Amino acid sequence: MILKDKVCVVVGAASLRGIGFAVADLFASQGAKVIAVDVAMDEDVAATIKHTIDEKNQMNSVLIGRKCDISSSLDCAGLFDEVVREFGKVDALVNCAGIVQSLSILSIEEPDFDRMININLKGAFNLSKESLRIMKTQGYGSIINVASVAAQRGGGLVGGAHYAASKGGVISLTKTIAREFGVHGIRANTVCPSMTETGMIDGMSADKYKEIVASIPLQRAGRAVDIAGACMFLASDYSSYITGSTVDVNGGSHIH
Ligand SMILES: NC(=O)c1ccc[n+]([C@@H]2O[C@H](COP(=O)([O-])OP(=O)(O)OC[C@H]3O[C@@H](n4cnc5c(N)ncnc54)[C@H](O)[C@@H]3O)[C@@H](O)[C@H]2O)c1
Repeated sequence: MILKDKVCVVVGAASLRGIGFAVADLFASQGAKVIAVDVAMDEDVAATIKHTIDEKNQMNSVLIGRKCDISSSLDCAGLFDEVVREFGKVDALVNCAGIVQSLSILSIEEPDFDRMININLKGAFNLSKESLRIMKTQGYGSIINVASVAAQRGGGLVGGAHYAASKGGVISLTKTIAREFGVHGIRANTVCPSMTETGMIDGMSADKYKEIVASIPLQRAGRAVDIAGACMFLASDYSSYITGSTVDVNGGSHIH
C-alpha cells in the first residue's frame, strides 16, 4: 500500500471517465484517504464514486466528496479548513480540475480568456495556496498540478491559445512553489498529459483521433490511469527527492 493513510485531496474527480476519478481510484486502492472534489460534486456523485471504487477494488475505502469551485479563493480556503478539521492533515493535493476550449486566437473573446485563466490558472493557485497554508505548518506535503502538453508544444490538439497559456502558467506556478517551499519539506511537481481518453476529447472526429494516434510512438492515446500512475508516484514517498519537475505522460508524442 504505497499511500497508506495518506490524506489526499483530489480535485476534478466528478466524472467516472476523468483523470481525477482515476487518481481517486488508484489512490484509494493504495490505502489513501481521499477527498474527491469537484464543482460538479454532490452527495449522489460522491456515493457513486465510492461505490464504483469499492466494487472494483473489493474494499471499503475512506472516501468523501466535497463541492468546490476552484476559481473561488473562499471555496478553496473552506475546503482545506474542512479537510484539516476532519482528517487532521493534508499529505497531497492533486489538482486535475480544468476546462478546455478549442478556438483560434482571433476568436477568443475576453470572457473566454478570463474564464480559462480563472479556472485553470487561478484555480491551481487558490488550491496550492490553501494547501500550502496547512502543509507549511505540518512541515511536509506534495502538490501535483496537472497541466498539458499544450503548454509545452505551443497549443493543444483540442485547446486554444488561452488553454495553452493557462497550463503554461500552471507549470511556472508549480516550479515557483517547489523553489519557495522546499525549505519547508514540501514538494511540487507538474504532470503533463497529452491526448487522454476522457470526456475532454469527446468532440474530436474519428479521423483526427486516428491521425493523432498514428503519430504517437506508443501508438495509442493516453488512458486516465496512465496519468494517475504518475500522480501516485509523485504523491508517494518514492519520489521524495523530486520537486519542481514536469513529468511528461504522453506516449512519446512530445520528446524534448
Ligand atoms: N483529456 C485530455 O486529453 C487531457 C490532455 C492534457 C491535459 N488534460 C488535463 O487533465 C485534467 C483533467 O481533465 P480530464 O481529461 O479528466 O477532463 P474532465 O473534464 O473529465 O475533468 C475535469 C474536471 O474538472 C472539473 N471542473 C471544471 N471546472 C471546475 C471548477 N471551477 N472547480 C472545480 N472543478 C472544476 C469538471 O467538473 C471535471 O470533472 C485537466 O486539467 C485537463 O486540462 C487533459
